[in-house]
Amino acid sequence: MGRIRLLSETVASQVAAGEVVERPASVVKELVENSLDAGARNIDVVIRRGGISLVRVIDDGCGMDRDDALLSLERHATSKIRSAVDLQAVATLGFRGEALPSIASVSRFRVTTREAGAIAGTEILVNGGKIDVVRDAGEAPGTQVEVRSLFYNLPARRKFLRSENTESRNIEHQIHLQAIGHPEIGFSLMRDDRILFQLPGTATLGDRIRDLYGVELLQRLVELDGAVSPKIRISGFIGQAGLSRQNRSQQLVFVNGRAIESTLITGALREGYHTALMKGQYAVTFLFVELDPGAVDVNVHPAKREVRFRDPNGVREAVVRCIQQTLQSARSDWQEKFRAPVRPGQSDAVSGKAAPDLTLRSEVTAPETRDRELPHLSVVAGVGLSAVALAKADNPSRVQAPQIIKQALRSPERPVDAPAVPSLQPQRRDTKPAQHQFEIIGVLSKLYVLMENANGLVLVDQHAAHERVLFEELRRRMEQQGVPTQKLLLPQTFDVPPRDADWLEHNLSVLQRMGIGIETFGPNTFKIDSLPSFLDVSDPAQFMRKVIDDLKSAGHSASAMRLGEEMIATSVCRHAVKANDPLRYPEVEKLIRDLLDCDLPYCCPHGRPTMIQISLAELEKKFGRKV
Ligand SMILES: Nc1ncnc2c1ncn2[C@@H]1O[C@H](COP(=O)(O)OP(=O)(O)OP(=O)(O)O)[C@@H](O)[C@H]1O
Ligand SMILES: [Mg+2]
Repeated sequence: MGRIRLLSETVASQVAAGEVVERPASVVKELVENSLDAGARNIDVVIRRGGISLVRVIDDGCGMDRDDALLSLERHATSKIRSAVDLQAVATLGFRGEALPSIASVSRFRVTTREAGAIAGTEILVNGGKIDVVRDAGEAPGTQVEVRSLFYNLPARRKFLRSENTESRNIEHQIHLQAIGHPEIGFSLMRDDRILFQLPGTATLGDRIRDLYGVELLQRLVELDGAVSPKIRISGFIGQAGLSRQNRSQQLVFVNGRAIESTLITGALREGYHTALMKGQYAVTFLFVELDPGAVDVNVHPAKREVRFRDPNGVREAVVRCIQQTLQSARSDWQEKFRAPVRPGQSDAVSGKAAPDLTLRSEVTAPETRDRELPHLSVVAGVGLSAVALAKADNPSRVQAPQIIKQALRSPERPVDAPAVPSLQPQRRDTKPAQHQFEIIGVLSKLYVLMENANGLVLVDQHAAHERVLFEELRRRMEQQGVPTQKLLLPQTFDVPPRDADWLEHNLSVLQRMGIGIETFGPNTFKIDSLPSFLDVSDPAQFMRKVIDDLKSAGHSASAMRLGEEMIATSVCRHAVKANDPLRYPEVEKLIRDLLDCDLPYCCPHGRPTMIQISLAELEKKFGRKV
């Protein structure tokens, strides 16, 4: 007697449900996606007890006639694809014909639906996958699906559900995703008879973000520049440099309108932000990638949460570029804040006059203190604040910058073995730096520079600011002149695990271009005999292991530029002015001007903010002058 049997339809649906319906939020996802595919303009969701006792989704989409409504509950019944060819270019959110029968097999299910213009609609009741009732119904055009007692017939599954609160929050997140993905559609969510949100349907993406996350977040976002290549369009909003979260909950990514999770894109985001994001932090993004449906395979994940790109490198590169360009163009917003005179009609700081009305202020800005020699500031004066000053240092004895940094900055010609590094960055502007308008008030706690601009109060972290200035200065030199190297006194050999060895083999030329004299010395063994001269590394082997880790986590294609930036970022910290290094007026002013001329002025190379603006309006609010 054979042991193999065909499963009944109901059991087969329950098996499928195991993949499609993980929790109440997956029910919401599938039903809302069906409504979107049906062309709904408005989608209302009602849940009770975390969606376990009830999920109801009501739409004003195209509805179904009775035959279709019955068919929609059969497995593999779909209106969205017809042949295998269609599967290669899916333009709808659904395509498998599995969601409704799966959900209906693990719940008490009711659908009422009516096409616009039809005399009557249809109501179907299903219990654990078995159709109980089919009758006429008189609802408004559109479809309403009600799912009660989820997993009532699968107690094992029910046990895996979390608390009602957690399940509710998952549902809320799911609707946020759909609502952000489709700002033109109205959404509402009612939880246990309380309306959580009601979003109007004609919103732009910006309006939608504001409605869901508040105007403060929206103000800290930058709009993406749009088209990157004819094949890929990237749009949406991303957090300014310096804005980040400890998890990915606000890293929303949509591919052709579908919310997805993608390690490829999260890697590209991290790479795009690079020095604008702190380690261990996540960027805030509302990123929309649109490309030909034929260039994406959506049939790779049971809950359709992941996709596969036919040209993953192209997508990655496009995202990286778009983020980099957008972050850099956001610089102009900052510069804008320093364009208008601080206090129109009065003398401004650019003319170098101290404000006469504040005695405290005069200690820092009084003209007589401005030109004094500042012996302890030699590193700053010599390196960071002005490499030019270093080159023509009229008083070389003042310059105490570490020799290696000086060499790096001075080296007038490209070393023979270090050709120029191809730049990922857009060409640096040739125009003269703008005349920034600000007035320095003083230095707080020997670290924070307090300034005034036309907008209000600006706080600058002098250490972070100097790191950014140094970083960009060194990077520019590296781009133009290559990397000066310094021989190690004793060449070092070191071993790495086979996978790292493989990675190193592939990236040897990149490393060599970056001034690291490295070569293979045996299976899994390498030898280093020189390093970039601006680095001050006591243990080259350990340094190499760190570089490998950092670069591997950045993605597969280590670029010379990326590696160079990484190395510079780690080295500048030690050379930048520290907290407690007292700066006087000319240094501070120069530092601020250099900072404002940077590509990414608003964060240090480790992603920490350099400046915080507190507007006059905010101050007025805090002091109760304005409500
Ligand atoms: N809200 C709705 N309004 C109109 N038609 C609907 C609605 N929900 C489902 N349908 C119809 O029922 C069919 C089956 O829906 P179901 O969700 O089971 O499969 P699908 O959306 O085609 O694919 P997937 O399993 O990937 O979601 C759909 O193809 C669609 O024609
Ligand atoms: Mg569907």
